[in-house]
Amino acid sequence: MTPKIERAKYGPAAHAGETGRLPTSFPRTVGPSAMKYLQEYVESGLTCDMTGRFEKALAEALGVRHVIATPGCTPALAVLAAAFGFEPGDEIIVSPITDYGTLQGLVRENYIPVFADVAPGSVNMSAETIEPCITDRTRAILCVHKTGIVCDMDPINALAERHGLIVYEDACQAVFGEYKGRLAGTLARAAGFSFDAEKTMGSDVGGAIATNDDDLAERIRFIGQSRGAAMRPGFGRLHTAAGYAYRMPNCTAAICLAQLEIIREQVAHRDRMVRLLSELIGRVPGVTPVPIPDYVNVYSCWMFGMNIDPAAFRCTTDEFAQQLADAGVPGAGTGRYYLMPAACTFLEASARNKVYPYSMPPASREYHYAEACPAAREFLETWIRWSTFCEKYRGEDCELAAEIVGGVAERNRV
Ligand SMILES: Cc1ncc(COP(=O)(O)O)c(C=O)c1O
Repeated sequence: MTPKIERAKYGPAAHAGETGRLPTSFPRTVGPSAMKYLQEYVESGLTCDMTGRFEKALAEALGVRHVIATPGCTPALAVLAAAFGFEPGDEIIVSPITDYGTLQGLVRENYIPVFADVAPGSVNMSAETIEPCITDRTRAILCVHKTGIVCDMDPINALAERHGLIVYEDACQAVFGEYKGRLAGTLARAAGFSFDAEKTMGSDVGGAIATNDDDLAERIRFIGQSRGAAMRPGFGRLHTAAGYAYRMPNCTAAICLAQLEIIREQVAHRDRMVRLLSELIGRVPGVTPVPIPDYVNVYSCWMFGMNIDPAAFRCTTDEFAQQLADAGVPGAGTGRYYLMPAACTFLEASARNKVYPYSMPPASREYHYAEACPAAREFLETWIRWSTFCEKYRGEDCELAAEIVGGVAERNRV
């Protein structure tokens, strides 16, 4: 008999039972027009193109030429990976601290993910950490804006240009965040967004690709939505590529459209709250909130995070996080599972056993993931996060959170 495993949970199910003295993200805040749009779709006899309307509205809000809506960011990035059309065994440099959704498309296209380390004390990689990873097999750089902190994109784009590489963004955690006054997801060739229920712009599921590249947009629609099929007169659908049917459902689009109407205000509020929270918690000796670089002028914070100094406290990071949860911070915990070279054990197994595409060819060298990214590993060893940070936070919640963190810190101080 197959041994029983506890399967991972997503959406509201992943947050069941989270309680405490601070707000929780579920039940989510939903834009007031959601029922109107859902009703309109149903009353149209399923004919109105709610997804098209959402794509147009999001494109306008982002100021980009094309938005292609998908059922999530995992599919969005999978379609992008396919649309780029690199060769099996080609390398994509990618952030080490992220969600599996960033990687899935790369793996399915038989590209090889190469994890650049994070910059010291940061959740993100940087041009300096990316540069040593570039080889003659590198084709693209996929930047993740972890927690909503946008990567320092100008130096990354300049580096990529010098090497003829494509840069694209995983903007799932940074929706409508701003980098030097420009919106996350508009800073490179293309970007993936997530509107799953847990995200800042939460719907039931949902995602999107944004790009200004007309040819790429056409290819994304062909591969990702038309299942790689063209219409041949006198024959019908002719599948010239192994495509996907990753279209955002119209009901999801109805909710997304309503969420889009309230998102800018919500992000501005999150920005104010996370800066206050960071300032208050930053006053606790031995505790360092995720630094907010000056170039992030709107921090669309999806998840609050902070590091503790192991020399300052008698307890471990896990114990500190557990005490925070016990004292009323819902969902406080560690984030080691975000280290993709460690969390995706199949990568190390495939690389070690030289399973395609790690066989040579198409790979041109050996890969090892087990010891990859020491700075990211070290960062996560002392990192505590709570994903219940949300639009419901008020000033008094930030004060209470800082008080709880301060209390746990004093109880454990050496
Ligand atoms: C950085 C990042 N990338 C990708 C994903 C996957 O998004 P989705 O759930 O819409 O497939 C997530 C979701 O948690 C994420 O945080």
